[in-house]
Amino acid sequence: METAEYIRQVDETRPERIRWWQEARFGMFVHWGLYSQLGRHEWVMNRERIPLADYEPLADSWQPIERPAREWARLARQAGMKYMVMTTKHHEGFCLWDTQQTDYNAVKRGPRRDLVREYVEACHEFGLKVGFYYSLMDWHHPDGARCALDGAAHRRFMDFTDGCVQELMTNYGKIDVLWYDVSWPLTSPELWESARRNALVRELQPGILINNRSQLDEDFGTPEEQVTAERAGRNWEACMTFNGSWGYMPSAVDWHSTRAVVFMLRTATAGQGNLLLNIGPRPDGSVPEQAYERLLPLGEWLAGNGEAVYGQVERAGGRMEWMPCGYWSIKGNDAYFWADKWPGKELTIGGLQMDVKRASLLATGDGIAEEITFEQVPDRLILKGLSEENPDRLAGVAVIKLECASAPRQVLGAGCVVL
Ligand code: GLC
Repeated sequence: METAEYIRQVDETRPERIRWWQEARFGMFVHWGLYSQLGRHEWVMNRERIPLADYEPLADSWQPIERPAREWARLARQAGMKYMVMTTKHHEGFCLWDTQQTDYNAVKRGPRRDLVREYVEACHEFGLKVGFYYSLMDWHHPDGARCALDGAAHRRFMDFTDGCVQELMTNYGKIDVLWYDVSWPLTSPELWESARRNALVRELQPGILINNRSQLDEDFGTPEEQVTAERAGRNWEACMTFNGSWGYMPSAVDWHSTRAVVFMLRTATAGQGNLLLNIGPRPDGSVPEQAYERLLPLGEWLAGNGEAVYGQVERAGGRMEWMPCGYWSIKGNDAYFWADKWPGKELTIGGLQMDVKRASLLATGDGIAEEITFEQVPDRLILKGLSEENPDRLAGVAVIKLECASAPRQVLGAGCVVL
């Protein structure tokens, strides 16, 4: 099939395939591999120029606990995440599944079991969609670098890549996301044979979503370490480390707070995008407690405020304005105001172009009333009888829902009202 025809078919089938993902909003990324044992970032082999002979023994010393993926999946579920993406092979080249393509894998070496299968089973057990991360770049395969220079090496490396991807797409049941990474050293999708390979992936997994890192746009963009919306109409997912490193790194101590993650979710929601938040499990597979300390309150926050986050949202940019006390997201005729700087008993919002029918606080309980009384006069909405303090104790972000008579829109401009 011609590349252009392939892309046309992908575009045509996308709206249906991607619906669940657009509504899911929030997923867990898991970076786990041999590098976790060193605890100095997943790029440690490259950054420290560790010779292969010194790195390879990590394959034998790796001894994960029993089924750690159940711990990740349980936590993801508790945190309000709807899907997971796990590194099946990172740049180091070690395969976490039972592959015929190389002996450098988790079944033949240290763990002596198929860690990808355990992961898939854990996703099923906890009701999460299943994503596979796969690094095209490979520092272990003898042709991983040579493929750019030599035709025979190129053919061998393409065959190896095909073999790996086919196994992953055939042996583990339904896979929801294929998340490619780093396409060094080949400089075009033609050299990677991406259209051919991805067409085969889609034959094997007709519902699958593929990210944009095999040098084709495919289904969604992947802004990294920044929650930034891509062009309108383009699906996107921001992938974020929790503490600056994807792989386990005990010296990385700057963990994002629960509140910071809520802000990421707010930006993703307002921009019609997703958030894929990473955890780097310890070498044994257990999850660092810093992740628990932040994700459990986040899960509670989402239990109260999830309505603003999940589902088919629209882009708020260009329709709603910035406000001193918080920001907006939109779903149908509902506008959600994410108040992170609580104003006290009254909150006044200017410039709304639609009639508000009802105002309410999403997360209630502890004597916090759901219903908010309000007055709407031309150009001003005044919400009254609010609590003195921000009612949200989990992240300091309380969400106010405005149910409107028509599509939400706000116009303020930069000047003052001229009478
Ligand atoms: C980068 C890094 C890699 C990480 C990935 C996640 O491309 O090379 O280590 O897995 O980002 O998005």
